[in-house]
Amino acid sequence: MRTETSKKRLMIPGPIDLEPEVLAALAQQVTSHYGSEWVKLYSQARDALRPYAQTDGQIFMLAASGSAGIDAAVGSMFAQGERVLTVVNGYFSERLYLIAKANGLVADPIRLGPGFVASHETIDQHLSKNKYAGLLICHSETATGTLHDIEAISSVTSKHGVALLVDAVSSFGACEIRMDDWDISVCCTASQKALAAPPGLAPIAVSDASWDRIDRTGNTGRGWYKDLRVWRDTARDSADYHPHPATMPVNIVRSLVKSLELQTVEEPSIRFERMQKSASSIRARLRELGYQPVAIESAASPTVTCFYPPPQLKDRAEEIATFVEEETNLVLARGTGELVDKVIRIGHMTTRAYGEYADDCLESLERFIRVQPSESTR
Ligand SMILES: Cc1ncc(COP(=O)(O)O)c(C=O)c1O
Repeated sequence: MRTETSKKRLMIPGPIDLEPEVLAALAQQVTSHYGSEWVKLYSQARDALRPYAQTDGQIFMLAASGSAGIDAAVGSMFAQGERVLTVVNGYFSERLYLIAKANGLVADPIRLGPGFVASHETIDQHLSKNKYAGLLICHSETATGTLHDIEAISSVTSKHGVALLVDAVSSFGACEIRMDDWDISVCCTASQKALAAPPGLAPIAVSDASWDRIDRTGNTGRGWYKDLRVWRDTARDSADYHPHPATMPVNIVRSLVKSLELQTVEEPSIRFERMQKSASSIRARLRELGYQPVAIESAASPTVTCFYPPPQLKDRAEEIATFVEEETNLVLARGTGELVDKVIRIGHMTTRAYGEYADDCLESLERFIRVQPSESTR
């Protein structure tokens, strides 16, 4: 047994273990959520998010989980009855489809099996078949560890003149997203993934060009808190005092600011490349051991890897994840949706997760294979 720590270590694909400085920010005394000092902190958070979105548009932070942010974005962007195309290639993109339906949209899903992503050619073909108001797509599908090529896909949505809404919950801060260059309308994320902060904030970036559409949809049952016009108008009317419509979780904002400050030691492009290389070496090692990543290498997410056990241990994903946890205190995620009981998922969104956590995890996965009795001794 190699662990010296008795503490559980999170290697699930978000939330993640927080850095001590981020935790310390969370533990500070609560301050008011209005006034000049607060506005300075709130603006720092939004400014620090901007390089990851590459937009001159507005960034809001809903006190909410990522799903609520997506719900707000979908309900604000589209009017009830409008037709949208969605790509469903896993549990979270299925949720995107469900959110579209719950907002009264006519949603046509392109359904793909685990590990697959939609090419821009496929999306082009589908967009040619019907008059669509938008495409809703999950950038990094956390259930399968796949990554869509949003740049290529955006060239197609631009060509068809449809809005592009990206669920970047598990890619934002880890992958290049150039909202304005790629003509992305809205990009949604959450604080607990690659932004390395506690759960509780749902940042939403809205391109300037989207407001025409948002204003035109009218309020079709999206409520008040989830209406992005309310966020825009409050940010404009109370800019210096209270630039958001409701009380913010000030300590979570404070820890997000600290986390993003720590991330500025690296240029985003260098960070993205480093994360991609590290994720790729984790997958290479898994393959060497006989574990099989669900995603093909060219469409694999830099933040999460989902993998099948080796063929001889096919139905033992749960047992393997439990073995690793008992041996190393690393908490791994199980499969979700149609991959329940079939796969193990690991998150690698932080330096620690690429380094010490990945080493311990891979060694333990290797040991699990080694301690299995051979066929002849069974
Ligand atoms: C890609 C993706 N979309 C949406 C969500 C939902 O986010 P939340 O659980 O914060 O509501 C998740 C959560 O893991 C996710 O990974």
